Amino acid sequence: MSARKLLILPGDGIGPEIMREVARVTAWLSRKRGITFDVTEDLVGGASLAEYGTPIRPEVIDKAREADAVLFGSVGDPKWKDIGFDKRPEVAILKLRQELGLFANLRPAKVFDALVDASTLKPDVVKGLDIMIVRESTGGIYFGDPRGIETLPNGEKRGINTEVYSTHEIERVGRVAFEMARKRQNSVCSVEKHNVMESGLLWKEVITDLHAREYPDVTLTHMLADNCAMQLVRNPRQFDVIVTGNLFGDILSDLASMLTGSLGMLPSATLGAKHSDGRMPALYEPIHGSAPDIAGKGIANPIAQILSLAMMLRYSFNLLTEAEMIENAVSTVLATGLRTADIMSEGKARVGTDVMGEAIVRELDKLSD
Ligand code: NAD
Ligand code: IPM
Ligand code: MN
Repeated sequence: MSARKLLILPGDGIGPEIMREVARVTAWLSRKRGITFDVTEDLVGGASLAEYGTPIRPEVIDKAREADAVLFGSVGDPKWKDIGFDKRPEVAILKLRQELGLFANLRPAKVFDALVDASTLKPDVVKGLDIMIVRESTGGIYFGDPRGIETLPNGEKRGINTEVYSTHEIERVGRVAFEMARKRQNSVCSVEKHNVMESGLLWKEVITDLHAREYPDVTLTHMLADNCAMQLVRNPRQFDVIVTGNLFGDILSDLASMLTGSLGMLPSATLGAKHSDGRMPALYEPIHGSAPDIAGKGIANPIAQILSLAMMLRYSFNLLTEAEMIENAVSTVLATGLRTADIMSEGKARVGTDVMGEAIVRELDKLSD
């Protein structure tokens, strides 16, 4: 096949630190599996603001459009806390999702056997957990109009955001969730708040219709978002695929990450609709942020970023063997007892970002010798 075009955007904070560990894995792919990428790297977020005065340049968005896949680190830096809202580092990821039409954000929460004791929940609650959260990522309250901060005649200010979902937006992400369920445990739980929000009511109706029309073989349940947060802690294994809107999906996936032991473990894939030439826009990133509290210390967990690369191999390049090899290597390294500081590590060896990355690649080398 022609060269696989990969755009790497490390971003801010721990982004560049964990992306360095990904470079070890791509080097392994080339060395041991003959899989190479035509890699371009660029600045986004605070790093781009510092260099170019904008969180993302139009040419970076063009490069993302032309790439077969984008591997993203994280954006956000307290240094820019007073900058205008539309210039914040976070604008970079929001723009990429919107401009590339990346509407389906897949956030798998899987518990590795070695980390059953690392969750804050009891081991028998999380053992074997395997949930896929499908978060809508180009609509909802993140992007709805009207929005802004206005000053009222009495001088008081008012902040406004609007939750908006239309039928086609709900249908297309619903389809992703049902298709995903068919390859898993065949069950979808749709999450909204139809009891207080019209957008939630429409969400429920559209998902119900879509199910009846196209996916009657899949088990469909509905749950209010507040109850879902509680159920994820009470009995998370009741879920297979969860499909939900942008904001609820953001919150519920951070919550679900702790079931797996750490926020530093969860990868994600954000996919768009296939173009007529068969190409699918796709961006891969950890669900966590730039972690300014630990940036520069060399202690960040690189696993979410490395597993995001594995998701890229699976969804963008159909390299299923290599994706599984990476997941297996992570599993084995965790089983040997290595832990970064974010993972509960009683009696285990606490290591930095680079030692974790090196150990994973050493394991990959063993798997491929
Ligand atoms: P965060 O996810 O950056 O960090 C939350 C906590 O988890 C912190 O204590 C952090 O140290 C820890 N943590 C996160 N990832 C870790 C890792 N890989 N290894 C070890 N520990 C890890 O969330 P926050 O502190 O609320 O946000 C910080 C900045 O990141 C903000 O500017 C926010 O907007 C941004 N953010 C960006 C993205 C993204 O780029 N997609 C995602 C989430 C947050
Ligand atoms: C995420 C982040 C982003 C979001 C921010 C940084 C815009 O929290 O990717 O989960 O809210 O979508
Ligand atoms: Mn988030």
